[in-house]
Order: sequence, then structure tokens, then C-alpha cells
Amino acid sequence: MFPKKVYQTRRQLLAKDVESGVILIPGNSEAPANYADNCYKYRQDSTFLYFFGLQDPDFVGVIDVDKNQDIIFGNDVSIDDIIWMGPQRSVADKAARVGVEKTKKLSELPKYIKAAIKAGRKIHYVNPYRYQVKILLSDLLGIPVAALAKNQSVKLIQAAVSQRIVKDKYEIAEIDHACDIGYAMHYFVMQNCKPGIAEQTLAGMMDGIAMSNGSMVSFATILSQHGETLHNHDHSGIITKGRLLTVDAGAENNNNYCSDFTRTMPCSGKFTTKQKEIYQIVCDANNLALQLAKPGVAYFDVHVAVYRLFAERLKALGLMKGDIDEAVEAGAPALFMPHGLGHNMGLDVHDMENYGEDYVGYGSAAKRSKKFGYGSLRMARKLVEGNVITDEPGIYFIPALIEKWKKEKINAQFINFAKLKDYYDFGGIRLEDDVLITKTGNRLLGSKRLPITVKEVEEAMKG
Ligand code: GLY
Ligand code: MN
Repeated sequence: MFPKKVYQTRRQLLAKDVESGVILIPGNSEAPANYADNCYKYRQDSTFLYFFGLQDPDFVGVIDVDKNQDIIFGNDVSIDDIIWMGPQRSVADKAARVGVEKTKKLSELPKYIKAAIKAGRKIHYVNPYRYQVKILLSDLLGIPVAALAKNQSVKLIQAAVSQRIVKDKYEIAEIDHACDIGYAMHYFVMQNCKPGIAEQTLAGMMDGIAMSNGSMVSFATILSQHGETLHNHDHSGIITKGRLLTVDAGAENNNNYCSDFTRTMPCSGKFTTKQKEIYQIVCDANNLALQLAKPGVAYFDVHVAVYRLFAERLKALGLMKGDIDEAVEAGAPALFMPHGLGHNMGLDVHDMENYGEDYVGYGSAAKRSKKFGYGSLRMARKLVEGNVITDEPGIYFIPALIEKWKKEKINAQFINFAKLKDYYDFGGIRLEDDVLITKTGNRLLGSKRLPITVKEVEEAMKG
């Protein structure tokens, strides 16, 4: 938890931007996995964490903009709770630590909201992503669950995004820490990836490093020799000589800040020439993004620059052909990288994605492209100091996609389909680093960069 002044200042700024009404920020409750008392690991809502800082379930935060008052609604524990959970601080005590003086019981929330609605005041909320919270808001506001999305407060979303998209020094220290845990996770896999070991063993041990140094993984670990499937959560394979292993994983530390790294390694410990050729292109693309990303540059343009590099280099390899400018304009490199170059990262691994990707990654200045590949970019904005983004170019050979483009003659003037036949069992390569935009450029987050050159990776894999 940060000093209480941090949360007070954030709430004041939010209230100023929202201008009037009541801001309603529900925290999360426990989420049952298979029966009420057997829950998934508890995760507080990120908006609640950002503005109210507390990690406890069943709290609701209210910022009464008109009355200049912050309130936390929550219940003190009973003796029954103490028997099972141990002694707990009072709600008032917890609230005071984040600079909130007024607390009320949860049972008082409906009356409070009803009175505000009756007085004609606007209730600002963000459309919930959890069903429990949808039901809570639907009951409180008298709005059917299906209508919650269209009645959410765009003003609240825009105000929250404008604060959260620029990280302060406390957040940067947390993200650096989450990145150090991410480093340990990935380095472990590099040292232990050997033919014969199960993907599941590597993935489980990697997740254990996240849990033993922080809260948990920042998203479900991707660890697969089928890296051509972008989000492959299947870990049923056995590490096999000659294949590539793509590992995309990160940690969430105890203060809920995230990291997100991807590395790709040769299962045998040494890249083949064919693997090295593609690997070097992706590695150069990752470094090109680092060269270009600085305040004033739109991340969309960095994504375009990566597509251009892919077009040039894949043409040199004989996998693409034709005019480079035209190929980039048409989005032909999206056959190899159908996803975006990166996203914001912070309390969420895809930071604030629950607000809607366009509010976060585009804002009012940029518009999402409708073209395949370009349209998948989550962060297109002009970069500013304090942004935390990922740099994650990749080249994938997805047989089903290649076959579709071939059959439908999509960008046929730029793709050498005949030569691609030799790559159907190649897999995919992605290399992802986490980047802080500084005053004049950027720096990598975490105290050390994971091995990334061919030589560094092969060296780390010697174990
Ligand atoms: N690293 C997973 C993702 O960005 O979606
Ligand atoms: Mn990512």
C-alpha cells in the first residue's frame, strides 16, 4: 500500500475530472470455484485498488463529488469470522490508512444510492466484468444487467484512464519488482528446458516462482512448442529436440502490479540455421521498437515500423515479395504477426482493458484501424513520459491462416505461398519486454534484461 496521500490525491483528481455526481467503485468479492467456500485466489478490482488501495473483499468505495466526501462501505468481522480467519482490523482503521475518514455498513449502501438517484444526481460507474458485481449494480441502480454497459460513465472511464496511463514513481517501483519476479520465472525455464521434460512441469514450476515471490501469475502462463498459436494454454507436450518453445508469462507482485515477458528458445539448446534466421528478425524488431519508442511518437507508428522491417527481411528470405511500401500499407505482414506490437501494463497485465480497449489505447486522438493485424493493436496512442507498455513483436507460421490467404488470394502479390510450405511445422517466435517511457526515450523495466540474443539464450540454456 502506498502513502495515504497518494490515494487522496488520486480521488481528488478523479472527482475534479468527473465534475459532479457520485462515483461508485465496487471492490470484488470472493469468487467461488466449485462451491461457496472453495474460492479462486482472491483478486481485488484494479479500479478499487488504484483509488482505494485496500485488498479486502466486499468493500465498495464511493466518491461523492458534490459533497467532497469519500466513503468506504464494508462490514466489520463478526466473532464467527474471527474464529475462521483470525483477528481483523476494523473497516474504519483500514479506511484511515488510505485517507478515507467515513465508513458505513454495506447494508447502508442501497439507501445511500437510492437517495442520490432520487435527488437527480448522476451515479458514475464502469460496466462490471464480474457477474456478482453486475447483479449488485443492477440491484442498486435499478438497471437491468443487460443495460449496464450502455449506461456506464464514459466521463469516469476517461478520467480514470488519464490518471492510470501515466505511472508514478511508486507504481514504477512495483512494476520493476514484478519484472524481477518475471525474470526469475523465465530464467528458470531457460535453464531447465531439456528434451524429455514435460511442458506442464516447466509451466507449474514457473508459476510457483510467481507465487512464492508475489501474489500469482499476471495471466495464465503460455508455454508451448506450438508458439504459432498465440495464446496457447495447453501444456500437454513433452519438450522435443528440434522444436522451439515459446514462453509468455509474467508475475503479479503482492501489491498487484504486473510483468509480462515472452522468450522463445530452441528445445535442444541450440538454434538451427532456419530458426536463427527468423529469430534474428524478431529480435531486431524488438530492438527497433526500443529505438523508436519515446514521448511524442505514436505507438501505432512503431507497429508500422515493425511491419516494414518484417516485410523487408521476409522478402530477403524469399517469404514475401513485391513492393515493400504497398505490402506494409496493405497489412500483408499481418500474416506473420496478426497481433499488435504491445499494450499498456500496470495493475492489470493488459492495463485497464475492462474500461474498453479503445478508451485506453486510442483515446480521442487515434482511431482503430479496420485492417487485419493493424486492428489488433491495443496501444496506438502517442507516447508520453510515464507510460508502461510492452514491446512484443512475433513471427508465426499459422498453417490455417496461410492456407486461407492462399485460397482467397489475400495479399497474394506480397506472399510467396509456395516457399511457406517449408515452415508449416516451424511454430512461432515472440520476444516481449516491458518498457517505461521516460522524458527522452525509454528504459526496460526490471533490473536485468532477460537473455535475448541468440548467443545469450544459448548460453543461459547451458543451465
Ligand atoms: N502476454 C500476453 C498478452 O499480452 O496477451
Ligand atoms: Mn503482452
